[in-house]
Amino acid sequence: MAPLVCPMPIAFNRPNIPEKTLAYLRTGLESTIWEGDGPFTERCHAWLAAQLKAPALLTHSCTAALEMAAMLARLGPGDEVIMPSYTFVSTANAVALRGAVPVFVDIRDDTLNLDETLLEQALSARTRAIVPVHYAGMACEMTQICALAAAKGLLIIEDAAQCLMAGYQGRALGTFGQLGCLSFHVSKNVVSGEGGALIVNDSMLMERAQILREKGTNRTAYFQRKVNKYEWLDVGSSYLPGDLTAAVLLAQLEVASELTRSRLAAWRCYYAAFAEAEARGLVRRPVVPDGATPNGHIFFLRLRDGDEMRRYRAWMAGAGIPTHTHYVPLHSSPAGRKLGRTATAMTVTDRTAECLVRLPLYADIPAEDLERVIAASMGFFAGS
Ligand SMILES: Cc1ncc(COP(=O)(O)O)c(C=O)c1O
Repeated sequence: MAPLVCPMPIAFNRPNIPEKTLAYLRTGLESTIWEGDGPFTERCHAWLAAQLKAPALLTHSCTAALEMAAMLARLGPGDEVIMPSYTFVSTANAVALRGAVPVFVDIRDDTLNLDETLLEQALSARTRAIVPVHYAGMACEMTQICALAAAKGLLIIEDAAQCLMAGYQGRALGTFGQLGCLSFHVSKNVVSGEGGALIVNDSMLMERAQILREKGTNRTAYFQRKVNKYEWLDVGSSYLPGDLTAAVLLAQLEVASELTRSRLAAWRCYYAAFAEAEARGLVRRPVVPDGATPNGHIFFLRLRDGDEMRRYRAWMAGAGIPTHTHYVPLHSSPAGRKLGRTATAMTVTDRTAECLVRLPLYADIPAEDLERVIAASMGFFAGS
């Protein structure tokens, strides 16, 4: 039975608007430098380089960064790239757009990240790269993944869409591979509406990255006064955001620590509240891997089965609380079946997609909203 009183719905996500946002936008608008790679982009690049300890280029999305990474890897028809099936479509699209084959492996039952023990069996003579996706901002087992990639001569492209301000063994996620991809989509911790960045952690790849991002030309070198005209050098596209997007992003980056702290406080509040339900075997809470520094991106629960998850979501909706499931596995989706190869059993992936539910979480989520989510959940679990 749903709760009898149905109060105002609460928000699932609400972007924070840091104080400096409007001033930066005004400066950007009045400067009339609205195109890409203007002064705000430059400041975002400097912030990212200092934070990540690796250079990064702003893109208009993480999807764009993944596509650039696939081009930089020189993927071609028939090449294979290993990735989890439990991820966003862009991870696989970037590979498929080059005519290469996404090879899906199952995820770990604890962290929901690509299961590194299954990588060997997914390898073939055509394997070119591995794409670890750090789910919910929690690190994959990068020590093992990097060791295997080095031994087999494979590239690592990290899908770190959810990972700004998250780390592993003291290093920022997205900086373990040669290439890493960040998202600043409005659903993320630090946002610019749509937005992303490509971390280029191999200096040999930087010049070509700049060329691909600027329509296949050396326009970046031209603006840096390294050449006196720019020309078409490679097959590229336009992957850079306008400078007003960078103005919004800079205001967010400058308070990234505060935003992360606030999200982590809410995350910990949920984590503590659901300890008893986990002890009763009703739910499973997220697992923070050893050595990981999480960023509080997502709080999720895994219920006992799909029916229970759907009943829980209906109960929460009745209490005015929005919840969301997450990825539809790629290996069993129509395009995944046609374009990909499934290298392992997908038991954990399928079960996770069936049972996982995400709860409202954002920086400065009101304490009353957290209490409502928890109280409504407790009402549901009391009857289980
Ligand atoms: C794992 C993962 N990769 C890539 C993306 C794509 O990010 P964007 O929306 O910035 O293109 C997302 C978006 O949610 C994601 O979760």
